[in-house]
Order: sequence, then structure tokens, then C-alpha cells
Amino acid sequence: MSEMDIAKADWYNALLADIKKLEYGGIVLIKHAIGKRILQDFDKFGKPEYNSKKVENIAKDLNISRRELSRCIQFAREHPEIKNGHAMTKLSWFKIANEILPEKNNNVLKARKDNYLASNKEYVKDSEIINADSLVYMKGLPEDYHLLLTDPPYKTDVDDIDSFAQEWLPLAISKLKNTARAYVFIGAYPDEMKAYLNVQLPNDFYISKILVWEYKNTLGPDTKKDYKQNWQAILHIRTGDSLDINTDILTEKFSVQSFNAPDGRLGNRLHTWQKPDDLIEMLIKHGSKEGDKVLDPFCGTGTVSLMSDKLGRNCTAIDNDNQMIKICKQRGLAIA
Ligand SMILES: C[S@@+](CC[C@H](N)C(=O)[O-])C[C@H]1O[C@@H](n2cnc3c(N)ncnc32)[C@H](O)[C@@H]1O
Repeated sequence: MSEMDIAKADWYNALLADIKKLEYGGIVLIKHAIGKRILQDFDKFGKPEYNSKKVENIAKDLNISRRELSRCIQFAREHPEIKNGHAMTKLSWFKIANEILPEKNNNVLKARKDNYLASNKEYVKDSEIINADSLVYMKGLPEDYHLLLTDPPYKTDVDDIDSFAQEWLPLAISKLKNTARAYVFIGAYPDEMKAYLNVQLPNDFYISKILVWEYKNTLGPDTKKDYKQNWQAILHIRTGDSLDINTDILTEKFSVQSFNAPDGRLGNRLHTWQKPDDLIEMLIKHGSKEGDKVLDPFCGTGTVSLMSDKLGRNCTAIDNDNQMIKICKQRGLAIA
């Protein structure tokens, strides 16, 4: 890769975006110091080789990805004006890798997570999480909900996705007013999509669009034979009488929406299943008004409940997993 290519590469833009989000005194300095230290080494041996075995080995020793390490190098090369990192460049790799990096990272990350949880608690009003099997509990609910917004378990977590989809979705839809709408997150596996597209919905409800939530902020391990999954389908379900989508912002009506996935580096990720607060907030606004009733029968970490509280909606949120209930409590939500 030429230096020009590196400057234009996506990861470099992502690095700058990351840096803007981070406090100046925290991880940025570490990234800078690491990059600077590597450049010093390379200066001795000639031009930096970003794809060299050496970079790969250093990344392995530091327990970070080669991509991340290359970003550190690029950062240091492009921003020599950052001086405060200088002291750290004198430290050995062992000290950076084993003492400074973990300690600084851990402290910064813990502070971020604490801040995130504290901000969650400010939203909480009177929603309660119901610890129950929603396939049983939903049968007793009234049929007057304005919005169903949920993210059921994917085909990887149920025995038979076809019968599961046939069982829960019509039941949940039967709890909606005929002016309501539903947003249902589903896994983007072809057979899971097929299972949901085959479900017969009651009371004139139908799938009117498949929306796409795309995220570009998490990479995960490299895939060899297949493409990486960086989107999820959201079924938009309504009747001919459903109210208009409650927004004046035209771009919010694009059927593909980009939102960052919750991100451990920013302290706002409590579980892999968790959906982004801002995406859920937007969908609640689209599908309801203040005082309306929202149903989430598979609430997980309680995101729909929390954002409903924030927006003055009343949410019935159900989950049958104790680990999820514990996370809901951490976020300040009461358990019925
Ligand atoms: C994909 S996760 C939902 C994540 C959620 N959107 C969030 O932001 O955290 C699906 C959830 O459904 C719950 N679940 C699965 N089967 C259930 C059932 N029969 N009754 C209640 N909850 C169930 C699981 O425990 C899990 O928390």
C-alpha cells in the first residue's frame, strides 16, 4: 500500500473519528506514543513497512490487531505536534504492553461505562421489566398497544425458527390497535428471513418494508469464504390504517439507516445483543406519541424500555433470562 493510499484508507478516517470521541489525555496519547515508538524503530531500518512481519509480531505482542497498530503508526506520523506522548516513547515495549496499555485502557473504559450507566438511570421513570416467558405472558395482555418494537432471539438461539416465528409474531401483533405499527429486528440469515416472510399475520397487518440497520464501527474476526455481516433486517409491519410515521425529518425515512453498534471502547456496550439507544429512540418516536403504549416481549438489556421512559411512553418489556434482568437492573430499570 502506498503512503497516499494509507492516507485515504477507511481505517484512517475511522481512526480520526475515534480520536474525536476520546479524551485527549487518555487513549489518544497511548496510540500516539505507540506509533511514535514504532516509527523510531523504523527510522533505524528504513521506510515503514505497514504490512511487514515486524508489525504483525509487534501487534501480536501487544495483543492488538495489526490494523489497530497501523492506525497508531499513521497517527504518530501525521501528528508529530503532539508532544505529551513523548515521555512514553522511552518506555520499553514490555512496559507499554503489560502495564500502561491495560491500566490506562481499563481505567478509561471503566469511567466511560460508569458514565453511560449513570446517564441511563436519568431516563428511568416508571417502566418495569417483567421476568417471564413472553409466549405465556403476552396472552393475558390487552389489545391496545400503539407500537410493537422488539428484537427476538435469532435462529441460532431457538430450536426451530419457522415454528418460533409462527408462534410469537401473530400473538404479539394481535395485541396492537389497528392504527399501530411494528418494528421487528431479525437476524439477516436467509432462512430466518424466509421464516418471517412466511408468517401469516392477523388483523390486516402485513410486512410493508424490510428496513436495514447498518453499522460500520465493529469489525470482528476476518472472514475467509464469506462476506462480513454488518447489517440487520428490521421488518416494518403495519395496516392500511396505521398512523403516519411520526417524524418531519425526511432522511429518517430512508429504509437503510446507519447507526453505530454499542461499542465497548466507548463504554456503552453491556451485551452483544444490545441495540443502539439512538436507533431505538428514533423508531419509538416514529411509531408512537407521548403517553402511548409500547410492547417489547424480548427486551434483553432493556433498551426499548429505557428509551420509552426517556420519551414519555409506557413500555411493557418482558424477558426470561436472569443475566438480562441483571443488566436491566444495572441500567436502573425496576423489575416487576
Ligand atoms: C436479541 S435479544 C434482545 C436484545 C435487546 N434488543 C437489547 O437491546 O438488549 C433477545 C432476548 O429475548 C429473550 N427471550 C428469548 N426467548 C424468550 C421468551 N420465551 N420469553 C421472554 N424472553 C425471551 C432473551 O433472553 C434475549 O434477552
